[in-house]
Parts: sequence; structure tokens; C-alpha cells
Amino acid sequence: MRYWLVMPAAGTGRRFRGEQPKQYASLRGRSVIEWALAPFLADARCAHAVVVIADGDPHWPGIAARLASERLSSTAGGAERSDSVRRGLAALAPRARAEDWVLVHDAARPCLDPLDLERLIAAASQHAVGGLLAVRAADTLKAAAADRDAPAVAHTLDRSQLWRALTPQMFRFGALSAALDAAFASGRFPTDEAQALEWRGAHALLVAGAATNIKLTTGEDLGLAAAILGARAAGAGEGFMRIGSGTDVHAFGAGDHLMLGGVRIAHTAGVIAHSDGDVLLHALCDALLGAAGLGDIGQHFADDDPRWKGADSRRFVSAVLSMLRERHLRVVNADLTLIAQAPRIAPHRAAIRSTVAALLALPEDCVNLKATTTEGLGFLGRAEGVAAQAVVLLREG
Ligand code: CTP
Ligand code: MG
Repeated sequence: MRYWLVMPAAGTGRRFRGEQPKQYASLRGRSVIEWALAPFLADARCAHAVVVIADGDPHWPGIAARLASERLSSTAGGAERSDSVRRGLAALAPRARAEDWVLVHDAARPCLDPLDLERLIAAASQHAVGGLLAVRAADTLKAAAADRDAPAVAHTLDRSQLWRALTPQMFRFGALSAALDAAFASGRFPTDEAQALEWRGAHALLVAGAATNIKLTTGEDLGLAAAILGARAAGAGEGFMRIGSGTDVHAFGAGDHLMLGGVRIAHTAGVIAHSDGDVLLHALCDALLGAAGLGDIGQHFADDDPRWKGADSRRFVSAVLSMLRERHLRVVNADLTLIAQAPRIAPHRAAIRSTVAALLALPEDCVNLKATTTEGLGFLGRAEGVAAQAVVLLREG
């Protein structure tokens, strides 16, 4: 079995009111449309996907370049969703046969569970017309009287026969094209594919799907989608992992103490630095930023910015952690290495470890501190300064 995919993505998202159309909003590190496409691009049965975009859409080309799939192309959409789908089918027409299956999935539905896709294909491919994912009405449903501002109940509907239509919807290429062409010719715009077929007397199979397959409509739906995807990733234990490393060096200078891992350690020298010069925490910040793909500490906390003069480096760690939280990234563990001829770290190891663990909100056994000298070799061996390395692991979710 193989199928074609049409993904309508030419809407402007009036109700969503975003800076950009909702299909391009950022959701857990990728655009909504990339989430919507993912189950199909991961499915070998999907022969080709046509994304239907608005004329002059500036957002899609960059995403297409990133996805770099030969099974992906785009075409221009129309004023109504059904017209956009029609144009997507037209773009496939030279390659598709009338009896081929075609799936239509909204770009604004980023939470399709691949298991639901499987269920739809299994059920609809056995049905004469095809089928669609749908959810049985669970709430009591009211029809409202005409007043939009102060609607009153006109009557209660019998919900036992009511379903909410989702996507994907799956039909024979020839039948769907003909149904949409006929609707278009008569000036009617069905709000989903199944309705166009229904107007031709062809009744699609309703395949029960998960209610989590939401269509982003208002801005609030973005948070809901993030929660749905987050729960799914965590449930499957599949939040992907990211590793990062960081290094920092400071020269010794005037002073009587060092800050190491947020702990004040008396010493015969201090370090030359704009902030408090905590090499361990700076290496840690770089490792965290590196794992998240966010550059390095200097890009975020410039060493000539007066705000950071003498700054407690724990503030940098806190600020970096909040950047990670925004991206739904959690620290799994951190392994820190201090390289210095002096001072001796052993007496302070426990304090540093517990301070860093508290800062990262991790159990102590997820933070390790190693210390080494360089056997007297090099600038560290000559005790001209102190260096640190950090390796961290992040998990999405
Ligand atoms: N769509 C389309 N062409 C249109 C209108 C909509 O391809 N002329 C697409 C949207 O991009 C979306 C899907 O159809 O992926 C579902 O439509 P809807 O949720 O109504 O999206 P918008 O039309 O963008 O939103 P709104 O109605 O709030 O403006
Ligand atoms: Mg719309």
C-alpha cells in the first residue's frame, strides 16, 4: 500500500492572532507544520507530500530546505481550505492514479499520534469510500440562538450520533478530486473532505481517534499542544538527549579567595575576571548552552557589560536554566573537572558538589566533581591560573 499526502497550510490563522500564521509558530523546538508532517515523512508508505502554502509565503522555503526531503514539494493555495486542498490534488494529478489513496492533514494539527494514523489507514483502506479520524461528542451539545454576543440555548442536540471530524482524512484520489471540483464548480466550500464526498452521496467511515489530535485555533492551543507532545515524549521515555561540553580558564591575580562552583575558597591569590571568575560555573554554563544549541556564555553575558561586573556566577547558571526550561530541556547530569595545581580541592569537594546540585535542582549523585593537577606542567602546573571543564546531558521533556 502507498498513499499521497496533501497538507493545507495556506491559511492566515485569523483566530490565532500570532506574529506569523499558526502553522509556523514555534512548538517544542520546531515549527507546528514540521510536527504535522513528521508522522508522514517517517512513513515509507507516503509516496509524496504536497504542502499547500499561501502565495509569497516567506516561512515555508527555510523549513523545506531544512527537511530536505525528495518526497516533499509545495504549491500555491486558494482562498478557502477546500480550494487549497483541490490545488494540492492538482499538483499531484500527473503522478497519482484515480484509485490511489490520498490523505489530507491540516498543517495546524501537530499532535497526530502515529498510532492513530495507523488505525485510520487500516480501517479506511478496507472501506469503499475511505474514512476520517473523528472523536465522539462527549459533552452535551447546545444549538444557540442567532445572537452572537449573548447567545442563548435554542435546543439541545442528541449527541449520541455526533462526532467531531479531525484530520487526516483518507479517500481515493479520483473520487476526492472529482468531489472537490464539483463543489467548487457549484460555488460551495466544504469544511472537510468528507463533506465534499457526502454531497456526492459517498459516506466515509468514522474512525475513532484521540482527542489530543487538536487543531490549533486560538493562541491558547499552542500551550495545550506543547503539553500533549511533552506528555507523549515523557510517557514513551523518548525525549531526545543532548550533550554539551564547556571549558573555562582564569589567570590568578590579586586577591585572597576563589569562587569555585559557587563556594568561596580561601587562597593566596584571586582570579582576574569581570564577574566573580567562577571557572567551574562558567564551564558549566557553556556546557548547558552548548547542549541546547545556544552558543556560549560570552554571547549571553558579555564580559564588558557593567551588569555583570563582579557578578555572582550562580546568576548566569540560573539564567541559562530558564532558557532551557523555555525549550523544555532538563538537565540529567553534570560532570565537572577542575584543573589546577593549587588550591587543593579535596576539602571543598562535598560543598561544591552539593552547591552545584542545588543550583541545578539535581540529586547529588547526578553532579560529579573531579580535580586534577597537571603534574607541574604548563601554565596550570606553574600555578598561573585555574581551568575547568564540564560535560552535561540534557533530556527533552
Ligand atoms: N487552510 C488553507 N487554505 C485556506 C484556509 C486554510 O490551506 N484558504 C489551511 C490552514 O492553513 C490550516 C487548515 O487549512 O492548516 C485548517 O484551517 P483553519 O484552522 O481554519 O486555519 P486558518 O484558516 O489559518 O485559521 P483562521 O480560520 O482562524 O483564519
Ligand atoms: Mg480558516
